[in-house]
Amino acid sequence: MMMMMMIAITVSILLGNVQSFDGGSLCEELIIPSGYPCSEYTIQTKDGFLLGLQRVSSSSSLRLRNHGDGGPPVLLLHGLFMAGDAWFLNTPEQSLGFILADHGFDVWVGNVRGTRWSHGHISLLEKKKQFWDWSWQELALYDVAEMINYINSVTNSKIFVVGHSQGTIISLAAFTQPEIVEKVEAAALLSPISYLDHVSAPLVLRMVKMHIDEMILTMGIHQLNFKSEWGASLLVSLCDTRLSCNDMLSSITGKNCCFNESRVEFYLEQEPHPSSSKNLNHLFQMIRKGTYSKYDYGKLKNLIEYGKFNPPKFDLSRIPKSLPLWMAYGGNDALADITDFQHTLKELPSPPEVVYLENYGHVDFILSLQGKQDLYDPMIFFFKSSGKFSSM
Ligand SMILES: *[C@@H]1O[C@H](CO)[C@@H](O)[C@H](O)[C@H]1NC(C)=O
Repeated sequence: MMMMMMIAITVSILLGNVQSFDGGSLCEELIIPSGYPCSEYTIQTKDGFLLGLQRVSSSSSLRLRNHGDGGPPVLLLHGLFMAGDAWFLNTPEQSLGFILADHGFDVWVGNVRGTRWSHGHISLLEKKKQFWDWSWQELALYDVAEMINYINSVTNSKIFVVGHSQGTIISLAAFTQPEIVEKVEAAALLSPISYLDHVSAPLVLRMVKMHIDEMILTMGIHQLNFKSEWGASLLVSLCDTRLSCNDMLSSITGKNCCFNESRVEFYLEQEPHPSSSKNLNHLFQMIRKGTYSKYDYGKLKNLIEYGKFNPPKFDLSRIPKSLPLWMAYGGNDALADITDFQHTLKELPSPPEVVYLENYGHVDFILSLQGKQDLYDPMIFFFKSSGKFSSM
């Protein structure tokens, strides 16, 4: 008996890291309780990561359209340190995930590797260094590619894509790949980012200047988790008299106008999700060098990885002219800066439809209480006018 218990405890300690991936389900925690049918899928990327994907519909829209034909699929791609829950954090009348389902869309919720709704790796344990050996480059070329392939094979339909923040970095990179973009119907990007060299967020600039990204990699820290004691104390250590900790969110994202202050505690039950130190390092490389390129290993290793001294760029001009794009950006967004956004526009082969919201910060694009009027209604109008909507 004692022996069995010892073994059970040992096994649970050994598996501790794995189990944290199976701590619950997004469907059960956040979506089904609001009365929406939701099912969980697990897909496997080419490099062996197991990603959670949720499929959400509206019970009322299903009842209305009982001729069997489902609405068009839309894939939601969350931002850095967030996951699929980001689209369901407010009430059903306020949150994009629910609103799209109510409009008859077949909503697919993406969760990139490393987040709490992804399910680990076929052979690597979460505590291994190699488990965290990736940046947004792999999220674009493996995670987004697999999500789009999978949804396309299940629905036999082209896919609408919605991204926020890092979700737009990886969408734009994925759209430069012909075999991915051919399965995309149209895309809507919130806080669109490709170039990052005009980031104005004081706390981020301080971390860049201190080379925090390189420091933590040198220290052998490969998982970046601000919910851990270590991660939280790192953030606190960055504040001082000039950079107050009280308004940490503003010093990272810019001043947000419109989210519900009384829900912050609830938001923090979900956020932030983990990411990799290498990913932060890749993002900081972009801020330092003004590039939208693959990860920079340094000249020698670049030569081995890419066959040249400098990492290859993601060339925005390779995105097909025929892909309908809609983009919304904000005047107070300290991460998706207006100058950088204009740089993105200049390199796109055809101009997207653009919405500008002067008082929006980075987080307002998913949490704003007026998001429906300001963003989601115009986005759905754009989708309906650009796609095949015979059945809607
Ligand atoms: C803001 O959040 C609180 C707490 O969840 C809720 O009671 C209130 O109705 C919300 N306000 C709006 C305008 O949605």
